[in-house]
Amino acid sequence: MLNPRLEQLSDYAFQRLAALLAPLAPPPDLEPIDLSIGSPLHPTPQLLIDTLAEHGHLWNRYPPIVGTPALREAAADWLVRRYGLPAGTIDPTRHLLAVAGTKEALYLIAQAIMPDAKAGARPAILLPNPLYNVYLGAAVMAGAEPVLLTASAETGYLPDLDRLSPALLARTVAFYLCSPSNPQGAAADLAYLGRALELARRHDFLLIADECYAELYSREPPAGALQAAMRLGRSLDHLVVCHSLSKRSSAAGLRSGFVAGDPAVMAGFARLRSYAAAVQPLPVAAAAAALWRDEAHVEANRALYRQKFDLAEERLGGRFGFYRPDGGFFLWLTVADGEAAARRLWTEAALKVLPGAYLGRPDERGDNPGDGAIRIAMVHDLETTDAALRRIAATLD
Ligand SMILES: Cc1ncc(COP(=O)(O)O)c(C=O)c1O
Repeated sequence: MLNPRLEQLSDYAFQRLAALLAPLAPPPDLEPIDLSIGSPLHPTPQLLIDTLAEHGHLWNRYPPIVGTPALREAAADWLVRRYGLPAGTIDPTRHLLAVAGTKEALYLIAQAIMPDAKAGARPAILLPNPLYNVYLGAAVMAGAEPVLLTASAETGYLPDLDRLSPALLARTVAFYLCSPSNPQGAAADLAYLGRALELARRHDFLLIADECYAELYSREPPAGALQAAMRLGRSLDHLVVCHSLSKRSSAAGLRSGFVAGDPAVMAGFARLRSYAAAVQPLPVAAAAAALWRDEAHVEANRALYRQKFDLAEERLGGRFGFYRPDGGFFLWLTVADGEAAARRLWTEAALKVLPGAYLGRPDERGDNPGDGAIRIAMVHDLETTDAALRRIAATLD
């Protein structure tokens, strides 16, 4: 009855964490703080609440599968502003589809592009390791071989593009690149993005740039793959970028994002989506359009994260391999043993953190690049975050 490929999908990281901590209890005198899940807890923007309410009369209508024209235009305009693209680079009808959160889109796009074979061999999908697990699910369920590329401190927390053999590249169908990355917060620079795109074009695969953390940064705005494409000419061939309101606007519950890029891919993706994808209700689309057109709430959001990273630097700087991520809202701390640290932080400090290994997979030598790390989601308010950071500093060696 069941698709045997499902067996290759291991338990999600949070199920594994629940199993790890189930036999253990936190100290009764401490309020537990969950730092394991990257669910943004900053206040919901008033603009979202108001716009949803203003469009409350539209719940009775079926929405267009590709997104409303207003939302697609707002998203395309935002891309042009955010990345300084030449006006008109993104045609909202040819290059961009609204999606009900990028999670479903990241999964589904692999199903839209997968051939039976490439260069006479089994198709491969390149993935960073550690990774956002949905990429792996997408590759496995599409029938590709998932090829995990170590992204460790030695490789600048991004896959090493020089390690890809010609034979592998020949059968590669897609490369999921997360920048800024979850979990390590590393942003690829324009040179890296350009090289990845050149490889995609030379070897005829799709670069899927997951840029959902691109708006959360302390210092410089991270570069985007569309900027790299502009440097190479104006073509969007072999590239799609994925953006989300979940982190930018602390609106994970809205389920709203978009995918933009290669028009041929977008046409095929739209066709699959008309059979398989969730549509966004019209009030949601109206709220999403308003959020893409507003920067004030994003600046406030960023400022709060910046304050929390300042605090983290103060409390943890110089210990646990602390560094300030280029983007995103995670700390990626070095510890001797990630599971042991997670157990200890729960039993001694009432803190839930994610062992890095749960976000990675063992490589061909059996080494998991997430080993020896924990991921801390800096998603709480300032006061709670400070309490958590103090507890980490006092608990871990
Ligand atoms: C790297 C990465 N990509 C994509 C997503 C999906 O975000 P959403 O579906 O809320 O747009 C997440 C969510 O945590 C993520 O961490």
